[in-house]
Amino acid sequence: MSIDSRTGAAPLPTGPLSRVDYSERIPNNVDLAGDRRLQRALEGWQPKFLDWWKQLGPALPTKDVYLRTAVAVGRDGWAHFDHVPMDEYRWGIFLAERDPDRKVNFGKHKGEPAWQEVPGEHRADLMRLIVVQGDTEPASVEQQRVLGNTAPSIYDLRNLFQVNVEEGRHLWAMVYLLHAYFGREGREEAEQLLKRNSGDLDAPRILGAFNEETTDWLQFFMFTYFTDRDGKYQLGTLKESAFDPLARTCEFMLKEEAHHMFVGTTGVQRILERTAELMKRHGTADVFPHGGISLDVIQKYLNFQYSVSMDLFGSEQSTNAGNYYTSGLKGRWMETRRKDDHVLLEATREMRYVEDGQIRTRTVPMLSALNLDLRDEYVADCANGVRRWNQALEDAGLTERIHLPHEGFNRKVGVYTGHRITPQGEVVDESTWQARADEWLPTAEDRAKVASLMVPEYEYGKFAGWIAPPKTGINDQPVEFDYVHLAEEGLL
Ligand SMILES: [Fe+2]
Ligand SMILES: [Fe+2]
Repeated sequence: MSIDSRTGAAPLPTGPLSRVDYSERIPNNVDLAGDRRLQRALEGWQPKFLDWWKQLGPALPTKDVYLRTAVAVGRDGWAHFDHVPMDEYRWGIFLAERDPDRKVNFGKHKGEPAWQEVPGEHRADLMRLIVVQGDTEPASVEQQRVLGNTAPSIYDLRNLFQVNVEEGRHLWAMVYLLHAYFGREGREEAEQLLKRNSGDLDAPRILGAFNEETTDWLQFFMFTYFTDRDGKYQLGTLKESAFDPLARTCEFMLKEEAHHMFVGTTGVQRILERTAELMKRHGTADVFPHGGISLDVIQKYLNFQYSVSMDLFGSEQSTNAGNYYTSGLKGRWMETRRKDDHVLLEATREMRYVEDGQIRTRTVPMLSALNLDLRDEYVADCANGVRRWNQALEDAGLTERIHLPHEGFNRKVGVYTGHRITPQGEVVDESTWQARADEWLPTAEDRAKVASLMVPEYEYGKFAGWIAPPKTGINDQPVEFDYVHLAEEGLL
């Protein structure tokens, strides 16, 4: 069955290696048909995935959605856009093209050919890395399950669903690796990836941020900005892996991830534009009565999402991270562009920590602090977005600004755990924290106010009052394009 027979679109071009084979039950560019055992195993997992999608994927019933599907992995024209019924989306296995000369670029195996198989000594660690990454992908779909019911526009609804189907595909990416390279244990882990569920008391997702509920669209946009961005950085380290199939998988996932970043960046920006407009028009900071989200509440949501996303990088100092690096399992962000020896045995860096109620700095071995190295890259990237958002406030003629909180604010992992740090980076005692936390983190009342604005706007080209329309549509379509056709039951 081809994608074309369902959508009525012109047949997709086929041919070169980088093309994805859509004549298969599981679209892929890894010659799945050439490995019957693996193909059968994955075809056995496929219905379980689809069951999971039906149960815990998007709750809003739709006829079809204007979605992007990968048709190739090359630089140009890898994506095909069309209206597709969502449960017929072609989730598949797409790896970036193989570079036959690829080498290990760091650690003790530096200069050796990249691995096409899993070395026995690194099997357990590699499987763990893949499972943890794989666990986050379906988790976010689960977290965002009911958001469609309150979408601010059909345009935004389409973007939500695009992010959802691609996170589903990222699960496929990890499950492929587990099935293809980790035997029976890998297949068992693939089953578990569907059995753990976000927020489930008995079988929660592995990482904390992926068990938090995504309560509303402000949080969704903060999530796609801050938490998806953590994913981007984690994938960036795995893309450097000596284990070539993992590197190639992550390289292609990063391509899809770029759209998720776009959804977050522009989503928050559009909210700020609307808020700024209402502040100017009504001469007040409290724009809730005028149908907008007040800037202080936006800041509190940002503080929350940023701090839980910072926790995803793990402890600043980590022996595991150092070992993963030395063994070649996980590189640094942009490893090959770094100007050093890529072994790091002698390298050191500064690390902040808390002592005697003060934030101090000490020098630590670089290899012990690679989680911090990655987190610093992430923080710098986050700061870019905040600059852009502040530009929107400035353009609107406002003097108010939003900020990233201090790295130690509201942290539950690493050196700041157990300390109370204000968004400005001041160490305070527990009673001060308790007295002021409501100024810094969303309260139940804040969430309720935001929730009260979350009424769906399903008319093509119309937008909820708390968010500005985007400048352009998706794939050169107009903003008012019929990106989603809702099912009759969804309209009731
Ligand atoms: Fe993902
Ligand atoms: Fe993502």
